[in-house]
Amino acid sequence: MLAQRCWWIVASLVITRVLCGFSLFSQSPTLRKPDYRLPPENQSEKENMQRRLPNCLIIGVRKGGTRALLNFLAEHPGIKVARSEQHFFDRDSNYVRGLEWYRSRMPLAHPNDWVIEKTPAYFHTPGVARRIHEFNPNIRLLLVVRDPLERAVSDYLQLQQRYRNMNRSNPSIEESFLEAGDRQRIRSTYGPVRLSCYSNFIRPWLVHFSLEQLLLVNGDALLTQPAKVLEGVEGFLGLAHYLTEDRFYLHPQRGLFCLQKPGEEGCLSRSKGRRHPGVPPALLATLWTHLQPCALQFQRLVNVTFAWPRLVSSIPVGKQGSLQ
Ligand code: A3P
Repeated sequence: MLAQRCWWIVASLVITRVLCGFSLFSQSPTLRKPDYRLPPENQSEKENMQRRLPNCLIIGVRKGGTRALLNFLAEHPGIKVARSEQHFFDRDSNYVRGLEWYRSRMPLAHPNDWVIEKTPAYFHTPGVARRIHEFNPNIRLLLVVRDPLERAVSDYLQLQQRYRNMNRSNPSIEESFLEAGDRQRIRSTYGPVRLSCYSNFIRPWLVHFSLEQLLLVNGDALLTQPAKVLEGVEGFLGLAHYLTEDRFYLHPQRGLFCLQKPGEEGCLSRSKGRRHPGVPPALLATLWTHLQPCALQFQRLVNVTFAWPRLVSSIPVGKQGSLQ
């Protein structure tokens, strides 16, 4: 009887120790399972975030300032961006992968966010305007246009860099832009020249989309007055003006506007905003003679006037034909 009573006492002591032990463990801050849950409102906000297909595209032009526009817009709380160019609509090898592939490459976004993707090759690639219209006829489009002469020089510099990277010989600026047999004639098939003739590429966009859906962003002004240009883009997207002047600063060495970001330089990479070489005035004049009809026609088609050519002081009088 005594032995039985002792066994009960020992057993209840052990059980108490074990239970106390568990409850102590469960209160120990070090052993408690971490609570990864967010507070209720953030949790539901986060749950609403999904990879959403873009409802706005930066379609071009190449070397127009498309990266600056995308990076600046990415700061707006109502905008999410795909950081890298997706080449979905212009490359068949990507297009055949379908919309779910495209969606998987988009950022997480709330239902009311603008989701923006930029691929400057969309503007000049045949068939892309139609594909984008089939994808979403109500999509918003941003086309950054820049003085065609400066764009051509910028494109030329980029090609030169590419040749250098491939250890290929670099033709001079005249050899690049002018026909070998006739130094008075521009090589119209040369990429930097061809892509500066915007009127050759704008028509399909105007066939498929209204001018209310397509905003022309002034790439020349984006360099010098980013906040003002961005205010126009924000207005076009129905967003409050958030990208105000105080969010930018002029980088003293680079002479370019960068984002105010704590602990960061906030500038675009060194491949953007390169110093342009002094282009020989005679070459500029010949190039402008070639590009001016395109520039005039483009402005007529979109019904907007730009202050081109900006390098006007370098072009001999009589060949300028100001557009303003
Ligand atoms: P340059 O390097 O010839 O000056 P994209 O991003 O479409 O390739 O365009 C590149 C151009 O963006 C640059 O061409 C530069 O002129 C322009 N740009 C506009 N704002 C800029 C900024 N804040 N920083 C760097 N480049 C900018």
